Amino acid sequence: MSFISQDEISMIRNSASIVDVISSYLPLTQKGKNYFGVCPFHEDHSPSMSVSPEKQIYKCFSCGATGNVFTFLENYLNISFAEAVSLLANQLGIAIQTPLLKKKVDQYQKEFDLMNLALRFFQNNLYSKEGERARLYLKERGLLEGTIKEFSIGLALDKNLFFSLFSKKEYSDSLLENLGLISRNETQFYDVFQNRIMFPIHDLDGHVVGFTARCYLYDMTPKYLNTKETYLFKKGHILFNYHRAKENVRLTKQVLVVEGNMDAIRLSSVGIKNVVALMGTSLTKEQIEALKKLRSQIVLMLDNDEAGERATFQIGTLLEENHISFLIVRLSGEKDPDSYVLQNGKEAILENVKNAISFVDFQLNYLKKNKNLKEASDLSEYIKAVIESLKSNNDAILKEVTLQKLANDYNISYTVLKEQLGNEEKKGNYIVKEKPKEKKKKSGYEKICEEILYYMMNDVSYIRLYQTKLGMFPTQEHRLIANEILYYYEMNKTMHLADFITYAQTTNVKDAIMDILRNVETNELTEKAMLELIAHAKKKIKEQTIEKLKIELSKELDENKKTALALKIVEIKGSVSDENN
Ligand code: CTP
Ligand code: MN
Repeated sequence: MSFISQDEISMIRNSASIVDVISSYLPLTQKGKNYFGVCPFHEDHSPSMSVSPEKQIYKCFSCGATGNVFTFLENYLNISFAEAVSLLANQLGIAIQTPLLKKKVDQYQKEFDLMNLALRFFQNNLYSKEGERARLYLKERGLLEGTIKEFSIGLALDKNLFFSLFSKKEYSDSLLENLGLISRNETQFYDVFQNRIMFPIHDLDGHVVGFTARCYLYDMTPKYLNTKETYLFKKGHILFNYHRAKENVRLTKQVLVVEGNMDAIRLSSVGIKNVVALMGTSLTKEQIEALKKLRSQIVLMLDNDEAGERATFQIGTLLEENHISFLIVRLSGEKDPDSYVLQNGKEAILENVKNAISFVDFQLNYLKKNKNLKEASDLSEYIKAVIESLKSNNDAILKEVTLQKLANDYNISYTVLKEQLGNEEKKGNYIVKEKPKEKKKKSGYEKICEEILYYMMNDVSYIRLYQTKLGMFPTQEHRLIANEILYYYEMNKTMHLADFITYAQTTNVKDAIMDILRNVETNELTEKAMLELIAHAKKKIKEQTIEKLKIELSKELDENKKTALALKIVEIKGSVSDENN
């Protein structure tokens, strides 16, 4: 996972106080030996998150979020583990010896270097003599020098200049081709991007992975030529400007989603930095995930044309089905946010954002389009469409208000509307969908095993008790977790939960381990209780063994083997009652 040593990591973790770190992001109040605050990982108003200075972990009693100082930073700031470690080290003034770069960077370092070099090449072109017309084009679009630099805008010229230069570097032709920079016909390689303004596209972490290139000399199709899908550039996984916007989104708690890269660049250039662009009119599930990670209010502000309106409806429906709340801005007068800002300025567009409407209000309008509501058939189609669109909405009160409004505005019986909506919801199973995923119920035995594992993660003495009194779990899932605990203990000769959590993230059973930390109630841990748990577990294990042997016995035909099995059962049964005494 990471390349700094566990020792270094735990040294950094040890030097930090989890209370200090968390309270730099949210207020904590001391109660007894722990601190409490409002959990930032679910919507809450009461202080359900406790932070233990003794254990150096946090845990929310409401949503179960738990972890150490690194997991807090990762989840709160949406950063990677390596970033969390280096952030903390920085704050503590600890110099990290080993590079903290993630696997992806190492793995694709060559590719990223190449893309950066290509980017610089395109930037240079823009300032060359041949770049004059492109500079003029950008100037006419009202892009200032600073913006051009900030977005690393460049220029691709013709005559295969890119290929002739880059084929002389240490990069193979096939690499250039695989990254979508050059292409080939029967006879030769040629530049993919020619006579176009080059806008680099970054992945969510900020690596240049592709380009979107606009014609400027004369109209060409397509208007924008994008890098083909490559192993670095997956358009559906990317939101233009995401890596730059992240920081500002965190501060403003809001992210504006626009269609075009020029919209994002324009807004950003006037100081509205919390903006990302879809680069088109569709939204993929990866992009939804990226937006969710920002944990901010989403404001959809697509183009003011039919395509933008249709996309608003489709994307809105998708967001709603994913239970993501968002607002909508429909601009008027201008084609898109870019021209709107040019025409009306920053304050005017911010006013639009302030007055963003709910999706329901948008739908009520949108579904009216091309309908004459004075005609019975159009009106009934409209009402049905509204009801259909309400079914995936999560907000019961909003649904109620909308139905009442419909009933009033069009003089229709509220009861009929309500009934119709009920039918729609049943049809689409939307009611079921709203419920949180049901967790598999855990058996008593599983719960006991999990508690034992929880004890083991908390103190060396409990690991020793496990080793001497239980030895192993017969169930594989628990055995795998125990193995990780024992391995960690072997390596470190100690057990500190907060450090173990860091280690756990590198294992195959990290989800199961975090699950245990979430689920097990943290009462006072005592040796007596641990011994009781072990006794319970042993009893259960033996009962299970007896059950298995009984089944074998019932299938066994050989008399000798039957006797052996029966004896074994008696023997085990005896030991069960022994221990009960
Ligand atoms: N797009 C694309 N391919 C096209 C047209 C558009 O990939 N042939 C993407 C681009 O990322 C573009 C976005 O869709 O930014 C929105 O398209 P459009 O509204 O046509 O572009 P604008 O942002 O208005 O660009 P410009 O102002 O430069 O005309
Ligand atoms: Mn546009």
